[in-house]
Amino acid sequence: MAPEYAVELRSVSKVFPARRQKGRETTAVNAISLQIAPGEFFTLLGASGCGKTTTLRLIAGFEHPSSGEILLQGMPITNMPPHKRPVNTVFQNYALFPHMSVAQNIAFGLTVQRLPKAERDKRVHEALELVRLPDIANARPSELSGGMQQRVALARALVNRPKLMLLDEPLSALDLKLRQAMRLELKNLQAQVGITFIYVTHDQEEALAMSDRIAVMNGGRVEQVADPASIYNRPANRFVADFIGETNFLPGKVAAWENHRARLAVGRQTVWATADEPLPVGRAVTLVVRPEKVFLTRPEKSNGRLHLQGTVNQVVYLGTDTRYTVRLEDGVALVALARNLNGDGPLYPGETVHVHWHDYDARVLQE
Ligand SMILES: Nc1ncnc2c1ncn2[C@@H]1O[C@H](COP(=O)(O)OP(=O)(O)OP(=O)(O)O)[C@@H](O)[C@H]1O
Ligand SMILES: [Mg+2]
Repeated sequence: MAPEYAVELRSVSKVFPARRQKGRETTAVNAISLQIAPGEFFTLLGASGCGKTTTLRLIAGFEHPSSGEILLQGMPITNMPPHKRPVNTVFQNYALFPHMSVAQNIAFGLTVQRLPKAERDKRVHEALELVRLPDIANARPSELSGGMQQRVALARALVNRPKLMLLDEPLSALDLKLRQAMRLELKNLQAQVGITFIYVTHDQEEALAMSDRIAVMNGGRVEQVADPASIYNRPANRFVADFIGETNFLPGKVAAWENHRARLAVGRQTVWATADEPLPVGRAVTLVVRPEKVFLTRPEKSNGRLHLQGTVNQVVYLGTDTRYTVRLEDGVALVALARNLNGDGPLYPGETVHVHWHDYDARVLQE
């Protein structure tokens, strides 16, 4: 039997017509295919305008795909109206009804469904317990902080016991401290209720911290789908490497390839980097390495391993780390982040350093 996904998108596109006569049409979502497992915390991550909200609206049924197919639990739902889908959406602006109490806000969907009052009260109470606000049933939204209002909005979605929750930047209106706390709460809540979450954010840290898997989007397309560590450590291409965290890109030429690693000529020196596929000698490639994986050593402490040579250009003390900018011999700049451990002497601007890393921490991008 074919695996049953909670949600499946098969080459889904959405083209919006031109708004004015001479305007151009917009391909907001471009042939996206995704398979999301039951109970998964799945995140759509990307910059403004990359098509995240449109993808959610297609799944919720507020938009109709221009082409492709959407399946929920193996059933095509492309033509099912939004209110028939076992899906609930939480938006960025929580839009609680100001004239109703918290309990009335949460019960709203259940009232529409004509559930008996006793059952309704029980579910509202459960939902408030879940979001850890058991005592505010009678408060008005205006009496609550932003974080509390957002939790009420979550409770209002959870009370319907959806199979799937869609969350469109639900934390973005909150200040940083609260946002960080809510990340963990939301992740724990999701694990507790076991509902499949599709979560939208443009915040890479949020995506890395919360998700089982992340789809990195760019211009209506999906660039990579993987778990957070793979997205960070094995970006599929330059876009993903650049979008997630800070990365060094160095131009190199293949000098040799053996057993999943390549020796690359970078300027006048050669270094090793991981390369899964065999590479022909002479091929121009890009080497990617994260700043925190770069070691800088004074030449007299270097032990003969392959390295690049550079000059320390800038030193910025950051408390737990020091951030060095190094100019390599061919003029390329490189960033290194070093932990400030006891006994580590700082390096100074103008010093000559050897630049190296573990083979497995540097990767070759073929582009
Ligand atoms: N109803 C619409 N009519 C025309 N164009 C639209 C419509 N909705 C979205 N678009 C366009 O589709 C593209 C994707 O928009 P979308 O709202 O999905 O992006 P997003 O990733 O959610 O961005 P943000 O992070 O800013 O919320 C944008 O270029 C947007 O202008
Ligand atoms: Mg959006």
